[in-house]
Amino acid sequence: MSNIIKITIDGRECTARPGQTVLEAAAANGIYIPSLCRFEGLKPAGSCRVCTVRVGGRYQASCTFPVSEGMAVESAVPDLEDMRKAIVEMLFVEGNHMCPTCEKSGNCELQALAYRFRMLVPRFPYLFPKKAVEPAGSKLLMEQNRCIKCLRCATGIRTKDNKKVFGPLHRSVEKKLFVDPALASALPERWARKAMDRCPVGCILRKEVGFAVPVGRRKYDKAPIGSDIEKPRS
Ligand code: FES
Repeated sequence: MSNIIKITIDGRECTARPGQTVLEAAAANGIYIPSLCRFEGLKPAGSCRVCTVRVGGRYQASCTFPVSEGMAVESAVPDLEDMRKAIVEMLFVEGNHMCPTCEKSGNCELQALAYRFRMLVPRFPYLFPKKAVEPAGSKLLMEQNRCIKCLRCATGIRTKDNKKVFGPLHRSVEKKLFVDPALASALPERWARKAMDRCPVGCILRKEVGFAVPVGRRKYDKAPIGSDIEKPRS
């Protein structure tokens, strides 16, 4: 059996390996599909739906949907791009994202996607929910106003003895991120920084670190999100 699977993405012929997801195959072929909750190396949760594509007329989260021979994927088409933009807008109105005062501004994936989709005023009304800013042990601060419940931290941050430090609490609109302060305090410095870096927004912050990267040198000051994958089409 051949180890190469042929698919098309927006009509472009691509090759993929068995077991790859559509998003992984797209990236391997130099095609960027916007994503938010997914993080390289972590099992995808498929929770944000920003990566939605259309396959055979059905909507699928490309970060969890596996490739198959002859699959025709639609991705960079106007209605899907607008749906992604609407999801990003919803995330903005469901929280309180004060970008100019956020440590992660310029390094924030949600903000970078909003710029990518040229978001100006969201089409949904702001909800202005009441959220807390909570200390999480001696090293971290939880800015619940900005949490988008991607659960990257719950999946990817554990103690040496494999205990989860973060996890979801409650359901639906009440859902929030729980952190065990004792376990968070016991995280080695490298992992505390990792928790902050894995958070796509500015919800998990390392205490005593403020605006460490000057404007102009932040990740998305240098290049827009996705430009590391996108290559000029021949
Ligand atoms: Fe695929 Fe969030 S990146 S569902």
